[in-house]
Amino acid sequence: MKTIVCVQPEQFEMTETELSVRRAGEALVKVRRIGVCGTDYHAYRGKQPYFEYPRILGHEIAGEIVDIDPNSRGIQKGDYVTVIPYLTCGNCVACRNGKGNCCIELKVIGCHVDGAMREYITVPEDYVVKAEGLSLEQIVIIEPMSIGLHAVNRAQVRRDEFVLVIGAGPIGLAAMKFAKLAGAKVIAMDINEDRLRFCQEWADVDDTIQATGDVIADLARVTEGSFPTTVIDATGNAKSMNSTFEYAAHGGKVVYVSLVQADITFYDPDFHKKELTLLGSRAATKEEFDYVIQCLRANQIHAEAFITHQAPIDQAIEQFQHWLSPPSGLIKALITL
Ligand SMILES: NC(=O)c1ccc[n+]([C@@H]2O[C@H](COP(=O)([O-])OP(=O)(O)OC[C@H]3O[C@@H](n4cnc5c(N)ncnc54)[C@H](O)[C@@H]3O)[C@@H](O)[C@H]2O)c1
Ligand SMILES: [Zn+2]
Ligand SMILES: [Zn+2]
Repeated sequence: MKTIVCVQPEQFEMTETELSVRRAGEALVKVRRIGVCGTDYHAYRGKQPYFEYPRILGHEIAGEIVDIDPNSRGIQKGDYVTVIPYLTCGNCVACRNGKGNCCIELKVIGCHVDGAMREYITVPEDYVVKAEGLSLEQIVIIEPMSIGLHAVNRAQVRRDEFVLVIGAGPIGLAAMKFAKLAGAKVIAMDINEDRLRFCQEWADVDDTIQATGDVIADLARVTEGSFPTTVIDATGNAKSMNSTFEYAAHGGKVVYVSLVQADITFYDPDFHKKELTLLGSRAATKEEFDYVIQCLRANQIHAEAFITHQAPIDQAIEQFQHWLSPPSGLIKALITL
């Protein structure tokens, strides 16, 4: 089967590999769409920590069941599915406490183990999620949407509170959307004007703020002096993460969905006087995948506008170069099969 392998940093190769063989307890999935994400770009660039090469990337998956054991969830041949790409150990303290999303041994498909940039993949049956009634384009964005939803859920976003989301990439956009669906007043901040415009159309945010401007003054204006009670950082930028404590209201929450290889430091009196709550946000849960599917079914999230670029697997390596030198307007690129 056709397989794209990231052989080493900056080098993809299209190869033929043996067809995946399904073992008992696994599902054989025909891959139909693969979302390309920041993690893949970092892996390609050699900037992903603890990454081993060669590796088959691809963790945002839309596919079709080819073979599966009879199962209680009624998943069968021909069903459209996505895959929860976070493989958990099931035994560690996090897993025992229902927080498999931050399992000690977490292995992400397409990162720690081989992913979906190939025609077929086998995955443990429990990680397959049926996505009946959704198009492949809707299914492939379930994973990045769930990451944004998890950040919103970490803060337990409430109706009418001011939520500032910094970074309007796929993850930030998803957080904006779910904060809006929770009834919050959402402020989007970015350095990129195109992305700020896109937030207004796609996530229907209440206000946008240019990150290079006088942010404190702008936040004071749009929140009428009260400042956001939740600040979600989805920039992947340590400097931005370091500034979030300044933006949050007294008694507020800060969520880091961003992941950077850097120290984040703060001046304790700033943290103390506001009695801030700082929350990490890693991956997402099965329940969050299900909620995203429900929202997609109800047309509360529009996949079409979110997917800005597509290429068939045969042209994907070539297109990857263009997707990397940010063409204007790229939000989500897909590989199709
Ligand atoms: N929590 C998780 O499990 C998880 C999963 C996937 C991605 N992530 C992380 O989420 C982050 C966002 O991912 P993405 O794919 O949306 O990234 P992206 O690069 O597509 O988007 C980031 C956005 O932030 C903006 N930005 C950068 N620096 C900024 C600054 N100083 N101020 C304001 N805006 C700024 C950029 O213009 C861009 O629009 C990354 O750090 C990524 O590693 C986390
Ligand atoms: Zn991703
Ligand atoms: Zn575990």
